[in-house]
Amino acid sequence: MNFSLSEEHLMVRKAARDFAQTELRPGVIERDTIQEFPDNLVKKMGALGFMGIMVDPKYGGSGMDSISYVLIMEELSKIDASASVIVSVNNSLVCYGIEAYGSESQKEKYLTKLATGEYIGAFCLSEPEAGSDATSQQTTAVDKGDHYVINGTKNWITSGGRSDVYIVIAQTDRSKGSKGINAFIVEKETAGFEIGPKEDKLGIRGSDTHTLQFNDVKVPKENRIGPDGFGFKFAMKTLSGGRIGIAAQALGIASGAYELARAYSKQRKAFGTEICNHQAIAFKLADMATDIEAARHMVMKAAWEKDQGISYDTSSAMSKLFASKVAMEHTVEAVQIHGGNGFVKDYHVERLMRDAKITQIYEGTSEIQKMVISRAILKD
Ligand code: CAA
Repeated sequence: MNFSLSEEHLMVRKAARDFAQTELRPGVIERDTIQEFPDNLVKKMGALGFMGIMVDPKYGGSGMDSISYVLIMEELSKIDASASVIVSVNNSLVCYGIEAYGSESQKEKYLTKLATGEYIGAFCLSEPEAGSDATSQQTTAVDKGDHYVINGTKNWITSGGRSDVYIVIAQTDRSKGSKGINAFIVEKETAGFEIGPKEDKLGIRGSDTHTLQFNDVKVPKENRIGPDGFGFKFAMKTLSGGRIGIAAQALGIASGAYELARAYSKQRKAFGTEICNHQAIAFKLADMATDIEAARHMVMKAAWEKDQGISYDTSSAMSKLFASKVAMEHTVEAVQIHGGNGFVKDYHVERLMRDAKITQIYEGTSEIQKMVISRAILKD
């Protein structure tokens, strides 16, 4: 077993770290306040290959592995989880979904632009009445021969306002349950597609989250992904990889907060010495470092399994469950170590604490991860 990163991985991590420090750090507080993430930063991430990390270079991607994806996600998330969620959804849910299950013409038409950052993609599964219970899709897609007509509402859609391409999951035959669901590629300009107002969120405030409305939206049949009835499996398979991305995001949020708390504890003095010399603080840091290391191993193992072609449904759910718990608990501790300074924006840890919470909710709540894990461990 070899735990060391290759030269290539080290270079990728350095590129992501340099980008996060020089391009994302300035303005991160303002972006969180005004709830915006500028297009030029997305374009820069595209130019660095971060929007199509694992996509085959013949479709404009970087052709890197899932380990590289985790390294990039961790470095971006240490500084700005709003940036990393745009990257994660585009890579794991949209690019991967089209590359793994789309037709050649879908890859030519959409993947080539999504992988370079020319287009941004969104993944539309959640609905007002179908969040965790994803089979209960109320959005319908009626087969009209050469096209489908989509009607319904999608909620909490990451990059919902800024995307060019939307993967939409909808019910085509209710009597078939999960096998009557399909996934479609919908272009932004399609008639009847409306973007609702932006959500005012607790965390990842730079990333835009919207409700989307589909009113008699006509989608050509060639935009359905995979065979008829494949939509639910498509969603589950893409989400499995997505959970590795969100686990890596949680890891980055936790390690970003830990690094800030560690540095602060070495310069802040109380009772005549730097506060890291007090066991109350040193032991907190020891717990943080240990949990973060464990989370990193779990996320890397899930990514490695994906790269090896081994089933990763359980390891991705486990790594997301654990890393998001570590992120939530230790960002709270990072604020505690900062004392009053931790409660104000300038020290960054309060934002990381707010950002951590979503990692326990999106791409399946912690309770959903426990469902996936418990079903796997109890199945025989
Ligand atoms: N791979 C392949 N097939 C799978 C699968 C997987 N990982 N998981 C389930 N399936 C298949 C099952 O085998 C089953 O097929 P058969 O009928 O042929 O056996 C079918 O799908 C139905 O599966 P279940 O009976 O297990 O379905 P369920 O209703 O019990 O739900 C669930 C399972 C795991 C709870 C699922 O509904 C789920 O993952 N829910 C959470 C949804 C979620 O993560 N939403 C996030 C929204 S996207 C987002 O957040 C993106 C963003 O913007 C950041």
